Amino acid sequence: MTNQRVCILGGTGFVGHHLASRLAASGYRCRILARHPERNRDLLLVPGTELRQSPNLEKDFLEDQFKGCTAVVNLVGILNEGGGQTFHEVHVDLVERILDAAGAAAVPRYLHMSALHADARDGKSLYLRTKGAGEDLAHARRGIEVTSFRPSVIFGPGDGFFNRFATLLRATPGAFPLACPDARFAPVFVGNVADAMTRTLADSSFSGRGYDLCGPRVYSLKELVEYTARRIGRRTTVIGLPDFAARLQARVFQHVPGKPFTMDNYLSLQTDSVCEHNGLAELGIRPETLESLVPSYLG
Ligand SMILES: NC(=O)c1ccc[n+]([C@@H]2O[C@H](COP(=O)([O-])OP(=O)(O)OC[C@H]3O[C@@H](n4cnc5c(N)ncnc54)[C@H](OP(=O)(O)O)[C@@H]3O)[C@@H](O)[C@H]2O)c1
Repeated sequence: MTNQRVCILGGTGFVGHHLASRLAASGYRCRILARHPERNRDLLLVPGTELRQSPNLEKDFLEDQFKGCTAVVNLVGILNEGGGQTFHEVHVDLVERILDAAGAAAVPRYLHMSALHADARDGKSLYLRTKGAGEDLAHARRGIEVTSFRPSVIFGPGDGFFNRFATLLRATPGAFPLACPDARFAPVFVGNVADAMTRTLADSSFSGRGYDLCGPRVYSLKELVEYTARRIGRRTTVIGLPDFAARLQARVFQHVPGKPFTMDNYLSLQTDSVCEHNGLAELGIRPETLESLVPSYLG
C-alpha cells in the first residue's frame, strides 16, 4: 500500500476508468477532477477514489486540487474540435496550466497521455500536431519528473473504437463504406496501458522518457472493421473507399452532429498507427491480443 494520492485529469473517460482501478489495486488513492461528477458516480466504487467537481481548469483551481498529491496524471484529450473547445486549448494551453499549477503545488511527478506519432512539426493532422506540442511542453518543463505515453488505438471494455464501429455496423445493413481501409493500427489493451502508467509512476528513473505503446499485431482498418462485424454477427460487406471518396465522406460527415468523421480524422489516418519500438516490451509488460479480449465485451 503506497497510500500516495494521485490527481487525475480526464479520469472520467475510457482510459481514466481503467487507470483508476489499476492505481487503486496498487494502493494509490485517486482524486479525479470531473466536469460532471454526477455522471461518473461509478468511479466512487473504486477504493480510495474521490471525485471533485471541476467548474474550470484554471491555474489557481488546479493548484488547490493538486495540493497533497505526489503525482498528476493528464488524460484529457479530444478527437474533434467543437462545443467551444479547440485542439490547441485542450492539448497545449491546458497542459501549460497543469504544469504551472503542479509546480506551484510542488507536485514532483507528472504522467502525460499523448498519442502515437504525435509531432508538433510534422504531424499530419492538427490533432497530432497539438498532441505533439503538448508533449514537448511537458518534457521541456524543469522541476517536475515527466513521463509520457504514446499509444496506438486503445481497446478494452467501454472503448470508443470497437464499440463505435459495432454501433455503426448495426445501423448499416448490407454494405459498409469505409474510408482509409488500408490505414494500419496495432491496437493496445487498455489494461496494458494502465499497467505501463502505474509501473512508471512508482519509479522516478522512468522520468524524462516517452513510451510508444502497441499491441502485439498490426491490422488494417478494414480487417478490424470486418472482425468487428463478425463478432457482432453481421454479414456486412466492408467496402474500402478510394481516396477521393474518403475525403468527400470526411467533408460531409464533419458537418453531421457528433462529427462521425472529419478531415482532421482523415489526415490522422494518413500515418500508420504502429510502433517502431514498443514501450511495453521495455517495461516488461506482455501485450494482450485483441482476439483474447474483444469477444468478452462485444457481441
Ligand atoms: N482511446 C484511444 O484509442 C486513444 C489512443 C491514443 C491516445 N489517446 C489519448 O488518451 C487520453 C484518454 O483517452 P480516452 O479514450 O480515455 O478519451 P475519452 O474517453 O474521450 O476521455 C477524455 C477525457 O477528457 C476529458 N475532457 C475532454 N475535453 C475536456 C475539456 N475541455 N476539459 C476537461 N476535460 C476534458 C473528458 O471529460 P468528460 O468526461 O467530462 O467529457 C474525459 O474525462 C486522451 O488524451 C486521448 O487523446 C486515446
